[in-house]
Amino acid sequence: MKTSHLYIANWKMSFSLNEALSFVSKNYEALLALAKHAPNQIILCPSTEALYPLSQVLKDSNINLGAQDCSEHTRGAFTGQNSIVSLQQMGCSHVIIGHSERRTHNNETNDIITHKADKVLDHNMTPIFCVGETAEEYINGTTLEILNNQLQGLFDLAQKYQYHKPTICIAYEPVWAIGTGKVSSNDHIELVLSWIHEKTHKLAPFVKWKLIYGGSVSSENISTCKAIPLVDGFLMGRTSLSFQELEKIVHYT
Ligand code: PGA
Repeated sequence: MKTSHLYIANWKMSFSLNEALSFVSKNYEALLALAKHAPNQIILCPSTEALYPLSQVLKDSNINLGAQDCSEHTRGAFTGQNSIVSLQQMGCSHVIIGHSERRTHNNETNDIITHKADKVLDHNMTPIFCVGETAEEYINGTTLEILNNQLQGLFDLAQKYQYHKPTICIAYEPVWAIGTGKVSSNDHIELVLSWIHEKTHKLAPFVKWKLIYGGSVSSENISTCKAIPLVDGFLMGRTSLSFQELEKIVHYT
């Protein structure tokens, strides 16, 4: 088991601006202590409107901020989209890209998601590139084929950044495990992460790859999740809304 991990809190649209600010102000010292422990990397991903005020609160801290999405365009007539330049100016170090909820509700294709990853890397930030199969694809045994399609663009894109030696997080989140309370078996996660590990190291060894697992991670299953040797961190939705849960997850060794 690794001794330090990345903990990515994807707050989705669950907290309002005031709730996000109150979560951080109430737990400020304890959050800093969690990041010191090990040391771990804690990345809070609130909704866009909370990024700037939180960046002010967290500016001298060891807590990172991440956005939940960005536009695939740099600037222009794109009503309602989040500019990568502004996300950078607001102090984001990470951007979640291609979350299954955006693939489903916003019809994001692998091509669009790869363009977004390009914007993130071009602005020296770290993409958290989400991939994962649906329940049907899992049952049909096509997980690796689906992941291969989702990741192909990223592997090609990585070549463009070979002299930058960027860090890229790949978050494996089976769609059927997100928000359902069903965690994938360790055998399945290990198989998938080993496959990703092999591919990434063969196709783009110059990247600092971080392999993340997400999908119903909680204090009840963290012992099994942390036992997966290749896992560098966790992407958490529901459980990241409770500081007590987050603390139990980080503290489990
Ligand atoms: P969950 O969400 O932890 O609530 O399953 C994870 C995610 O959507 O990233």
